Amino acid sequence: MPNYHIWTIGCQMNKAESERIASLFERKGYRHTPNAAQADFIVLNTCVVRQNAEDRAVNKLRNLKPLKKSRPDLKIAVTGCWVDSNTERLKTNFPYVDYLFKAGDCPPWEDRNEWSQALPEQPQVSTYVPIIQGCNNFCAYCIVPYRRGRERSRPLSEVVCEVKELVKRGTREVTLLGQNVDSYGHDLPDKPELADLLTELTKIDGLYRIRFLTNHPKDMSKRLIQTIARLDKVCKNITLPVQAGSNEILKAMRRGYTIEDYRRLIGEIRLEIPDVALSNDIIVGFPTETIAQFQQTVDLLTELRFDVVHIAAYSPRSGTIAARKLADDVPPDEKKRRLLIIEQLQEKITAEINAGLMGKTIEVLVEGKEKGKWYGRTGSDKLVFFSDNANHTGKLVHLKIESTGPWSLQGTVNR
Ligand code: SAH
Ligand code: SF4
Ligand code: F3S
Repeated sequence: MPNYHIWTIGCQMNKAESERIASLFERKGYRHTPNAAQADFIVLNTCVVRQNAEDRAVNKLRNLKPLKKSRPDLKIAVTGCWVDSNTERLKTNFPYVDYLFKAGDCPPWEDRNEWSQALPEQPQVSTYVPIIQGCNNFCAYCIVPYRRGRERSRPLSEVVCEVKELVKRGTREVTLLGQNVDSYGHDLPDKPELADLLTELTKIDGLYRIRFLTNHPKDMSKRLIQTIARLDKVCKNITLPVQAGSNEILKAMRRGYTIEDYRRLIGEIRLEIPDVALSNDIIVGFPTETIAQFQQTVDLLTELRFDVVHIAAYSPRSGTIAARKLADDVPPDEKKRRLLIIEQLQEKITAEINAGLMGKTIEVLVEGKEKGKWYGRTGSDKLVFFSDNANHTGKLVHLKIESTGPWSLQGTVNR
């Protein structure tokens, strides 16, 4: 029986696409192997959001060259955001690659129809479901719109059917994915919104929870906020990246909102959804960012206190507006210093927020077992571990929180 191996880096969208590619291999009778050297078919699903992701992808690909030389019948495919429109150039530079296809596209060896319906046979308790591809925003630093193209929404009925099928196969939680889920539906004939999709999905029996990411501060509507507040199955957990705390930097980033707009939006969300957990992305060392402007980011995070913050040092991406127009003028050591300051601040804030859960009883959806302990997540997306003899996979349990830290919580079953 032939073996396949898929290597994936990057965002949830890449993970979702790799799961779907894997499901088609399984259907054809291929078996998964974690060891690339034993595979008959290797797929690399790449990311280029920052230089280090790109370097990892290119190294991985270079390392496959001797393997292909020793076994010419080995098939190598590359997808993800490393693949740009100039596939001819990539083919010339990497002649040992058999297939190159852009992120989200149908693998060239598959049937289009099957690809559109590809779903894992045995999906995980919590599964990613892409609802909108691409991005129309062109933030100055970001390469994603150049690699994933303009926004294309999947029809509402198609997403609902797919989630129903996933639930039939065992999924209990879905995370709806898009670079900007607030744009969902604007390109469809009847212009459904994310709020409409959430309303339809909550009607599916056996589906316990719905999450979605990423929201954009310039596009998140009052109607969506009220819908999240009203629907029980929708997790009170919002990813709303601010990226920077200075209005000048936000303008240079072309984000389309001011800090005042952002603060107002967070206020509105917290008023409508008092127990909301908020997650954020920050870039430090964007071109021209001064120490005073960086301090504004620190002040904003101290003031608004987010549950989770992903921090990245600015990495120029060739072709983007920032890379074309602005010199990468914050030195690497200074970027690193700023990154560490925010990391330490955020670790403290997250630890404090999590400590507030001590002694409380919280509902957790159990995803599986690791090193003898069950693990799952709260609606607010906090990872919780607990021990128990019963099988809890896919079930909602009530756990009393016995210890907390910045990365995870420990609990006991409350019977
Ligand atoms: N669509 C989402 C996510 C885009 S990529 C959004 O709008 O937030 C994920 C994160 O990577 C971004 O939020 C940003 O913080 C970071 N990122 C994107 N381009 C980057 C770059 N050139 N350098 C450093 N970080 C970057
Ligand atoms: Fe990139 Fe901005 Fe689009 Fe997010 S919204 S994918 S950061 S261009
Ligand atoms: Fe990376 Fe592409 Fe996602 S660049 S972060 S894999 S959209």
